[in-house]
Parts: sequence; C-alpha cells; structure tokens
Amino acid sequence: MASITIRDVTKSYAKMQVVHGVSLDFASGEFVVILGPSGCGKSTLLRMIAGLEDISGGTIAIDGTVVNKLEPRERGCAMVFQNYALYPHMSVSQNIGYSLKVSGVPAAERTQRIQAVARTLELEHLLDRKPMALSGGQRQRVAMGRAMIREPKVFLFDEPLSNLDAKLRVQMRSEIRKLHRRLAATSVFVTHDQVEAMTLADRLVVMNGGRVEQVGTPAEVYSRPASRFVATFVGAPAMNILEGTVTLDGLSLLGDSRKLNVSRTGLPVGSKVAAGIRPESVRLVAAGTPGALEATVDLVEELGAGRVVYVDLDGAPFSVVTSETVHPVPGSTVGLQFSEADLHFFSSETGSRLDVFKASVPEPAL
Ligand SMILES: Nc1ncnc2c1ncn2[C@@H]1O[C@H](COP(=O)(O)OP(=O)(O)OP(=O)(O)O)[C@@H](O)[C@H]1O
Ligand SMILES: [Mg+2]
Repeated sequence: MASITIRDVTKSYAKMQVVHGVSLDFASGEFVVILGPSGCGKSTLLRMIAGLEDISGGTIAIDGTVVNKLEPRERGCAMVFQNYALYPHMSVSQNIGYSLKVSGVPAAERTQRIQAVARTLELEHLLDRKPMALSGGQRQRVAMGRAMIREPKVFLFDEPLSNLDAKLRVQMRSEIRKLHRRLAATSVFVTHDQVEAMTLADRLVVMNGGRVEQVGTPAEVYSRPASRFVATFVGAPAMNILEGTVTLDGLSLLGDSRKLNVSRTGLPVGSKVAAGIRPESVRLVAAGTPGALEATVDLVEELGAGRVVYVDLDGAPFSVVTSETVHPVPGSTVGLQFSEADLHFFSSETGSRLDVFKASVPEPAL
C-alpha cells in the first residue's frame, strides 16, 4: 500500500501543453477513479505516475519519495491496459509469471505464486491455454494476474474494461472492486465511462482539458457539482441547463418567462447565470397545471423501470426521468414541475458553481 502525492504536475508534448498544473493526494489503499472526456489527459497523468511518460513540471511522490527520475520498475506500480497486451505465444501461466522470470525468481517459487494468483482470479483451469483461446473477460483476468503477481504497491488501470461487452464489463467491475477489498492496494482507475466511475470509486477526480475540475466521493460530485462541466458530464441523461439573468430581486429564467426568488446573488444585475436541474428532479404533470412550465414532448425512451421523456422547452432540449405510469405521446403538451431547492447555479462566464444563490423561500414548485 502506498500514498500518491501529485504536486503542480504539467505535461507538454513539443510546444503543446496537455496537463496544466494538477495537484492530487491519493491515500494509501484508496480506489480513485479519474473520469473525463477523450483527450483530457487521463492516460497521460496515469502514465506519468507509472513512469512511462516524462513529467514536464511538478513532482509525483509515492509513499513520500519523489519518483520523477525513477524507472518504471523502481516505482512499485503495476499497470493494466485497455488492450491487455498479453504475449500471444505464451500460455496463461507464462504470461502471468513472465515478470518474475525476468527478475530471476526461481522456478519453484514462480509456480507457487502463479498458482496463488490464478486461484484468486479463478484462472487455475486455464493456465495452459494461449490467450487466443480465451474469452475477453478471461484475457482481462490474465492481464490483472500479470499485474498482481508483482505484488505492487499501486495498481494503475487505463480503461481496462472498455473492450468488453456490456454484461462482462459490469461483472469485471464488481470483480475488480472485490479484488481491491481483498488486496487493499492503492488503485488509480482511468475511464471516460461515468457509470463505471460512479460505481467503482471511493473518490472521483473529474478532469477536463488537462485540469482537475472536481475531486470528491461519487455522491458529492453528483449532488454538488463544482462546475457546469461536471454537472453536465456526470449523470445520465445529463443535467438540464436553463440560461438565466440576474435581476434586481432575483433571477429570471427562460427569457423572463420565469422569475426565481433568490437572495444574495452577489453578481451585478444583468449577469448571465446557468441554472441546472437533474432530469430525475423534474416531475411531469398535466399541461395547464398552475405554476408548471409547458413543454412539447419530442421523444420517449423506455428504460424498463421507468422512462426518459425528452421535451422541447421554449426551443431548448430538456429531459425528464420518470418512473410514474405516465405515457406522454410525442407532440403532446406536458407540464414540468421542480423544486427550487433542486436547482444548481453556475456562472455563465467561468462555469463555476455559485452557492450565493440560495433560494430564500424554498417553494414547492416553480
Ligand atoms: N505522444 C503524444 N504526442 C503528442 N500529443 C499527445 C501524445 N499523447 C497524447 N497526446 C495528446 O495529449 C492529450 C491528452 O491525451 P491522453 O491520452 O492523456 O487523453 P485521455 O484523457 O486518456 O483520452 P482518451 O479517453 O481518449 O484515452 C490529447 O490531446 C492527445 O492528443
Ligand atoms: Mg486514454
């Protein structure tokens, strides 16, 4: 087990900077997930921890020792990649034991450790097979085994499940979680899949454009997103955003058609803000219900347990998740209700969360 301390880390390729001053602290034994869109620098950050990429600026320390100049094998990290990178001509047993062989561990001890790892990963019956003769999930477990056998202080995962089909992905997710509970090694897991991130993480790091947008538990990130980016990136369907303007006595939404009674805006009259509401915080009511916003139904998506209703709200797309037994028809008019207390506010200029916007009198419906 090992802690990881990342301080003001930057990365540039030639003249292009792709990681901009990232500072993070991972506790010993923690399972951290780095989540962000394609190209935001997740793999680059992970590879800098592993030593597969030079660090352009700042420091990375593992268990208090700065590792910037250490070779990958001196850092005590094991990495599991998306494409597994198994040796095709070697058996499962040889693949798992390869690193021990290279470092001169005697054959008897090697066999014993391979057996132990294979038992943990339920690969014992497959030890003589070649990777070609394995399923995707089995290959993934071999890749895990190869990382585990070195008894690393830190596991680094770079989208290890994205080549698997949906069912297997869910299954491997819980296996990785179980394995972590047993081994308790510090784990950093990179993904752009937010469901994977939410279900695996003790703590979530949301990245965008080479910067950290927010660090927190999945529940914190979901319930108090630090920025408009996080608000719309985490959660599916995405949080609805209504553009608003600060007025003398509060805030107006949807081009003046709705007024919100909020206190202490802290921003000059006329400032633009974005108000966010999660699709699951909106109730569908009959058109014409007093106080409800009117919208036209575009599309209804059945989820089995409920449905997503996509509507057009004054020309803007808006979605509602409902488990009620309403079946709105595309083209029909519906009413939308939500509580002001469920609104999130962000500066239109910087995208940062604005907590000065506390609804002064929480009203049941807008
Ligand atoms: N060897 C390289 N040379 C130049 N630019 C690179 C190199 N590797 C990555 N980049 C750039 O750095 C940025 C971050 O890449 P990175 O691979 O870290 O993204 P990522 O978040 O892992 O994305 P994905 O989810 O698609 O894997 C991207 O803009 C990418 O084009
Ligand atoms: Mg990547």
